Amino acid sequence: MKIFDLQGKVAIVTGSSRGIGKSIAEQLARAGASVMVSSRKRDAAEAVAEALRGEGLSALAIAANISRLDDVDALVATTRKEFGPIDILVCNAASNPYYGPTTGLTDEVFAKVMHNNVLSAIWLCNRVRPDMAAKRDGAIVLVSSIGGLHGSAVIGAYNLSKAADMQLARNLAVEFGPDNIRVNCIAPGVVRTDFARAIHEDPAVRVMVESELPLRRIGEPDDIGGIAVMLASRAGAYITGQAIVVDGGARIR
Ligand SMILES: NC(=O)c1ccc[n+]([C@@H]2O[C@H](COP(=O)([O-])OP(=O)(O)OC[C@H]3O[C@@H](n4cnc5c(N)ncnc54)[C@H](OP(=O)(O)O)[C@@H]3O)[C@@H](O)[C@H]2O)c1
Repeated sequence: MKIFDLQGKVAIVTGSSRGIGKSIAEQLARAGASVMVSSRKRDAAEAVAEALRGEGLSALAIAANISRLDDVDALVATTRKEFGPIDILVCNAASNPYYGPTTGLTDEVFAKVMHNNVLSAIWLCNRVRPDMAAKRDGAIVLVSSIGGLHGSAVIGAYNLSKAADMQLARNLAVEFGPDNIRVNCIAPGVVRTDFARAIHEDPAVRVMVESELPLRRIGEPDDIGGIAVMLASRAGAYITGQAIVVDGGARIR
């Protein structure tokens, strides 16, 4: 048996039209999984799925906004209908709509952050659980952030939601563990995606950030994709309730 093999597995990856989610979808598909690519924009998701099919891999696309329960239901139902019971769930899509101190945070914005970054993951996890429990095998990966491990004066609400994802992984690891469902977080540092444009598009900021990193570079989406493969495959079969930090060494400084 190849220890990173995902042949025959069915995976959902939210927010997989670009960035980290795209890399995760690609790497899961290249490891053999049938992958449902999803994001709010169907065309963008379809382009990723089409490219994977062009490599001879198994992938389809659907538009799904993780903040809408109907979309979440349709995402799970369509994946099941097209590919069969779900083995792997990656909750990757998230929002960070507010930059500023907690004193300026409105209830509406706070609710939106928690809704998109935490509640939507709870919806998805609960919906895929029966498939995984029936097989007594499953892997759930929540894409958190190293922001969930430290305080911030400017992205505090986002960091709070990312810390909540780590606690959600621990809770569900305990709840779902008896059915051999593993639930873990990946906690990336800065990765070169649209999401972190403010850091990598300003050369001065980027140089400053990179000079502090032991590996002297910010992350690439493909630094994350393979970690999801590890957590979803036999290689990660005894890891649960953890947050795997993937940050070029940022946290050890
Ligand atoms: N980049 C970093 O430095 C970094 C660091 C730590 C953690 N993270 C985490 O990594 C994850 C992915 O971030 P990224 O950097 O890859 O972002 P990104 O490049 O901006 O990509 C975000 C993806 O999510 C989709 N998306 C956004 N809102 C959505 C919604 N409401 N419903 C469904 N899909 C949605 C986007 O497509 P559509 O626009 O078509 O919906 C896109 O596919 C997030 O959880 C983020 O918090 C990122």
